[in-house]
Amino acid sequence: MSVNKDVKRVTTHTLQEWKEAGVKISMLTAYDYSMAKLIDAGGVDVILVGDSASNVMAGHETTLPITLDQMIYHASSVVRAVKRALVVVDLPFGYYQGNSRLALESAIRIMKEAGAHAVKLEGGAEIRESIERILTAGIPVMGHLGLTPQSIYKFGTYTVRAKEEAEARKLKEDAMLLEKIGCFAIVLEKIPALLAAEVTKSIAIPVIGIGAGGSVDGQVLVSHDMLGITTEFTPRFLRRYLNLAEAVRNAVKQYVEDVKTGNFPNEHEQY
Ligand code: KIV
Repeated sequence: MSVNKDVKRVTTHTLQEWKEAGVKISMLTAYDYSMAKLIDAGGVDVILVGDSASNVMAGHETTLPITLDQMIYHASSVVRAVKRALVVVDLPFGYYQGNSRLALESAIRIMKEAGAHAVKLEGGAEIRESIERILTAGIPVMGHLGLTPQSIYKFGTYTVRAKEEAEARKLKEDAMLLEKIGCFAIVLEKIPALLAAEVTKSIAIPVIGIGAGGSVDGQVLVSHDMLGITTEFTPRFLRRYLNLAEAVRNAVKQYVEDVKTGNFPNEHEQY
């Protein structure tokens, strides 16, 4: 099997090849056309239109309020920008839990109206029927285990999950189940690195971590966090590659000053 990092278009099959060849997978979130274009041009392999849009784009405290129509709006903007990355879209809270028919209808809307390449759902055995039904339509499904933010009111906090034996055992069983029923990859969020390493070795599909250590097959971060647009969110796993918040504040301050002092526009910036 050829392993070509310079693929024209990343597919679920590419990710599988990379897992088998030990090539790490990079994934970032995007929610709008302009940012998705930059992120795709930067060479990221997978772009996630995460329901974290509910937090970073809309200012909600949790991911629960975002609707399917809003996710489709974000996803279609991202898809229009992306040339190379695989675009995965979160099914939002309330559109798949306990209702596999609604799950299938919601996934079909995301694929048809946004032009996405795959969907992501949070949970294991409890959403098995929804995942299986979506898969029957030929829609690739990415799983998401560990800290699943749509269940925040069950957990009570955003602390590390699966530190206790019983929860770790369920997570391992769920990962194997997701692989068995046909998910093409799994996100593991905020769990002990040793547990993530064990899961990654035990299943054949790619495991993408966020706060799950370095022994997984790839990494995902929320782009607004790694670019330093958000500043209040400072978990240990987050590496900031830029301080865009400061750069934007400084640029805006300078613009305001230039307008107030009459320094903008100058004679070259007019007709
Ligand atoms: O919504 C999101 O951004 C996510 C990532 C944190 C994996 O699910």
